[in-house]
Amino acid sequence: MARLKDKVAVITGAGSGIGRSAAQLMSREGARVVVADHNSPAAEETAALIEAAGGRALPVTVDVTDEGSIADMINAATDEFGALHILCNHVGGTNPRTDLDLLRMDLDEFDRAVTLNVRSTLLGTRHAIPHMIRAGGGSIINTASVAALVGDVLQTSYGAVKAAVVSLTKSIATQYGPQNVRCNAIAPGAVMTPALANNLPTDVIEALKQGNALPYLGTPDDIGHTMVFLASDESRYLTGQLLVVDGGMTMQSSAAPGRRAMLPG
Ligand SMILES: NC(=O)c1ccc[n+]([C@@H]2O[C@H](COP(=O)([O-])OP(=O)(O)OC[C@H]3O[C@@H](n4cnc5c(N)ncnc54)[C@H](O)[C@@H]3O)[C@@H](O)[C@H]2O)c1
Repeated sequence: MARLKDKVAVITGAGSGIGRSAAQLMSREGARVVVADHNSPAAEETAALIEAAGGRALPVTVDVTDEGSIADMINAATDEFGALHILCNHVGGTNPRTDLDLLRMDLDEFDRAVTLNVRSTLLGTRHAIPHMIRAGGGSIINTASVAALVGDVLQTSYGAVKAAVVSLTKSIATQYGPQNVRCNAIAPGAVMTPALANNLPTDVIEALKQGNALPYLGTPDDIGHTMVFLASDESRYLTGQLLVVDGGMTMQSSAAPGRRAMLPG
């Protein structure tokens, strides 16, 4: 299949996990991919995997907290491939050791979280938009989280910045829709990236699974496939939306897992 034939995609955080999956899946659909990450060897590894499978990929070292670095990344894409149609603002997160409850959270961590999650999304988009308009349109995909939708006892900054990413998504979609630039966000639930799988104790992983309606946790490809859909013309009438890809974690009643355990048989 070639659902992204002739498209050029830039994906931040493509050296690992969900970003790597999105890069590989978009390449498989015919896109030429800029694999951007601040971990240069990881970006090079993803690009090598894509090239070995017959695709075209350019590894780029980027720090999404630095505007000059973001500008260089976008320029590298257009210099190498001549255009830009797809941007995944995927890098994000907070430090769970310092992103605590409101009274104990580190305010410097909050500022870092805004820079890493929100400012990076705003700046990546700002540098990409003129190229997308020149190309006749484009698709921007922002990575939010289910943390944007629910309250939590910890990770106060994480929820707040991911909610800001959702708001930004709607402003971008509203402002550049007339130029045929779409912008959507994805809210992944628990996704077993290598980092998560290696660091979480098995009982925590089991508890996460119990919280889903589906009997399994997500894989990077589950999110990557959704990104391919949002990048492709199959979603051409879809903009400003948040797609929640969480195995049913946030849609079901909080009582459901307990009641399920009480069911006979
Ligand atoms: N994995 C999950 O369960 C989950 C759930 C919800 C949302 N998310 C979101 O997905 C994104 C992370 O993706 P992942 O889970 O594949 O994580 P990951 O840790 O596997 O990959 C993140 C990549 O981002 C790169 N990176 C980190 N800081 C960077 C910077 N300043 N500039 C450039 N690159 C940088 C890292 O080197 C790494 O390769 C985040 O936005 C996170 O909030 C993940």
